[in-house]
Amino acid sequence: MAFSYKFFLLSLVLLPLANCENFYLHSCAKNITDDIDLHTRIIGVIYHLIQVTPITGFASSSFSSFGDSTLYALAQCRGDTNTDLCRKCIKDSGRVLFTNCSNQAQAYIWYDLCFVRYDIVNFLGNWTVDGAETSMFNSVDTHNMSAFIPEVIKVIENLKSMVRTSGDDLFAKMVVGNITNLEGVSIYGMAECTRDMNESTCRECLDHVEGILHKECKDRSGCRILHNSCFLRYETYDFFSIESR
Ligand SMILES: *[C@@H]1O[C@H](CO)[C@@H](O)[C@H](O)[C@H]1NC(C)=O
Ligand SMILES: *[C@@H]1O[C@H](CO)[C@@H](O)[C@H](O)[C@H]1NC(C)=O
Ligand SMILES: *[C@@H]1O[C@H](CO)[C@@H](O)[C@H](O)[C@H]1NC(C)=O
Ligand SMILES: *[C@@H]1O[C@H](CO)[C@@H](O)[C@H](O)[C@H]1NC(C)=O
Ligand SMILES: *[C@@H]1O[C@H](CO)[C@@H](O)[C@H](O)[C@H]1NC(C)=O
Ligand SMILES: *[C@@H]1O[C@H](CO)[C@@H](O)[C@H](O)[C@H]1NC(C)=O
Repeated sequence: MAFSYKFFLLSLVLLPLANCENFYLHSCAKNITDDIDLHTRIIGVIYHLIQVTPITGFASSSFSSFGDSTLYALAQCRGDTNTDLCRKCIKDSGRVLFTNCSNQAQAYIWYDLCFVRYDIVNFLGNWTVDGAETSMFNSVDTHNMSAFIPEVIKVIENLKSMVRTSGDDLFAKMVVGNITNLEGVSIYGMAECTRDMNESTCRECLDHVEGILHKECKDRSGCRILHNSCFLRYETYDFFSIESR
């Protein structure tokens, strides 16, 4: 693999995804050994994110208490969800984080419709090449690949420029159909940055992720590259949120 799966369960990563729209990946690190207050605050933060995130689809916060390390948190629902789906997704994420990660000071969870993250290091506004990331892909393609691949590249390029002009939500989606030499195939794509990014850091992050996508998704009919500050995904089926259409 060209990049590290350091935080992930490989067995989950490699599962095929076609019928698995409620799929999630999570990882946690930094065991809390003697800071009971931090553990309590993590639970408080999860609760706070569930309350606040659905209002605009995004929430970021820092929580500190005297003498203790500050906890930074971010939650974001995908740009094509509505309030109800957003609330449900953040709740589901919260449940998984609570059960699996509340004794750890760093956590990430990627759901189809939302992303949640917290850490004792301030990551807000600061994307890094070596951030946590993973990929998931669908089976090897049976379409005419010499026609398919250039079309996917075009879709990704378009999405990257659409994100830059998408305003505050840093989200773009598109569908391309009726492609020459690809009878009956449509390509559904999306690009998104976490909303603590600005236009230029969003572009940098997507450029980075696009590089990985070209390497990892070569002969795949669908693929997603999930970084902790931006996401790219394409499929030949409609994965957009039904509620938002
Ligand atoms: C963190 O805690 C878990 C469960 O308590 C344990 O299995 C794991 O080895 C710990 N990791 C480190 C790095 O201490
Ligand atoms: C995470 O928590 C869920 C319950 O919320 C549980 O079903 C699942 O097995 C846990 N996963 C891991 C890897 O511990
Ligand atoms: C951004 O993250 C890097 C790597 O974690 C860190 O070295 C740097 O200090 C951070 N920058 C800011 C402004 O937080
Ligand atoms: C596959 O695509 C290539 C290039 O777009 C085209 O030349 C070729 O005829 C196509 N093959 C089929 C079987 O459609
Ligand atoms: C494909 O072309 C047909 C006829 O030109 C049109 O009715 C249909 O909407 C097109 N589909 C897409 C996905 O563009
Ligand atoms: C975007 O954020 C980066 C990192 O925080 C900062 O260096 C840069 O000046 C910002 N750019 C704009 C246009 O705000």
